[in-house]
Amino acid sequence: MRIAMVGAGYVGLVSGACFAEFGVEVCVVDTDATKVAALREGRIPIYEPGLERLVADNVRERRLTFTTDLAEAVAGAEAVFLAVGTPSRRGDGHADLSYVFAAAEQVARAATGPLVLVTKSTVPVGTGAQVREIVRTARPDIAIDVASNPEFLREGSAIGDFMRPDRVVIGVEPGEAGERALAVLRRLYRPLYLIETPIVATGIETAELIKYAANAFLATKITFINEVADLCEKVGANVHDVARGMGLDGRIGRKFLHAGPGYGGSCFPKDTLALARTAQDAGAPMRLVETTIAVNEARKAQMAERVIAACGGSVAGKTVAVLGLTFKPETDDMREAPSLAIVPRLAEAGAALRAFDPAGMAHAKPLLPSSVHYATNALDAAAGADALVLLTEWNEFRALSPERLKAAMRGDVLLDLRNVYDPEAMRAAGFRYLSIGRP
Ligand SMILES: NC(=O)c1ccc[n+]([C@@H]2O[C@H](COP(=O)([O-])OP(=O)(O)OC[C@H]3O[C@@H](n4cnc5c(N)ncnc54)[C@H](O)[C@@H]3O)[C@@H](O)[C@H]2O)c1
Repeated sequence: MRIAMVGAGYVGLVSGACFAEFGVEVCVVDTDATKVAALREGRIPIYEPGLERLVADNVRERRLTFTTDLAEAVAGAEAVFLAVGTPSRRGDGHADLSYVFAAAEQVARAATGPLVLVTKSTVPVGTGAQVREIVRTARPDIAIDVASNPEFLREGSAIGDFMRPDRVVIGVEPGEAGERALAVLRRLYRPLYLIETPIVATGIETAELIKYAANAFLATKITFINEVADLCEKVGANVHDVARGMGLDGRIGRKFLHAGPGYGGSCFPKDTLALARTAQDAGAPMRLVETTIAVNEARKAQMAERVIAACGGSVAGKTVAVLGLTFKPETDDMREAPSLAIVPRLAEAGAALRAFDPAGMAHAKPLLPSSVHYATNALDAAAGADALVLLTEWNEFRALSPERLKAAMRGDVLLDLRNVYDPEAMRAAGFRYLSIGRP
């Protein structure tokens, strides 16, 4: 079986490599010639644990190839996946579908025979129908069936998520076209049937909405516990224990109940916004989602004020060390990271900033003020700092010796925005330790 993957980003590259690992012949196409050249030379343009090895193995087995030539990728493919970006459209928060529509039309024009065009990008309800119109207009002569197969992988554990997902969602058209598409996708995902992965087969609109509903629900769950953390601070409760006590209830679950600086990343901010816009346009506004967005934005902005308050009301002339810049650990992705709201505000307030991130510094540099000094490791970042802010919970930061950290610094303020450290141990090491929602 041969397929094409349009887009060699976090989703396209991982999905393409994983399908190849399933034994399928995959050609990944991207318009970014630099990315494709790197991949052809065996260099992986993103940081994702395990990906380099997976790509190398499948390239060696000749199941995985890369190109900038869409026609070459599409020729003879039974299925073509769209894994291009769907960022927020400037101004109104709707998803920008220009990459999806352009790619769909290019695929249709390049098609050499019947194929299934599968949208893996996160797209608003109704996009599948528009894609179908585009391909039918471009190629009335060929049966191009459209399908929706939203992706739920998480950066940092993307390969495991793809290989052992909680479920696979497949949306198809009614009738024969849908049956054909479903048959092709079932064949592709056969290795997952063998491990009894639930397959949710639905209509296209439902599949599109499942992805947004899931992301908006998770974003709301995070935002909920963040507000509980604020309340804990006022009343002397401990959010860690509240979350545990809540999360052990099987109806609630423990995941996504970690209080922090507000959610970021390449998905939640843009997907919640797009869902809210879709719902408004459809006349069924989702006020919970709208409130989640507003509360989270305010929270990210408020985090810098917390740092300033912890430094006695001013950071002017002070040195602040920042550990972690990416929106979460085990990725180099800086999209909508809380650091992008916090670091510039601290710089503006007069702080000298020393930052370290194990994978994100190259992407962070063009996005953060030029005055930020990039350190070579956590202790180097802490050197001479008046205050230290833990922003992303990379494992290597968990293991730092409090004593060595304290000895490297000039001051004693430690603001742990991810609650990774033990308050007692940090106080014993001489820190004025502040975390989120814990006494
Ligand atoms: N990143 C995640 O964790 C994640 C998880 C689930 C779903 N998604 C969704 O998947 C989609 C892709 O996300 P991503 O993070 O992989 O994006 P990305 O920006 O990392 O990658 C998109 C790639 O598509 C390429 N591209 C754009 N137009 C093209 C065209 N016409 N032909 C060939 N290549 C083209 C770009 O050059 C880029 O390399 C988005 O809709 C996103 O919401 C992302």
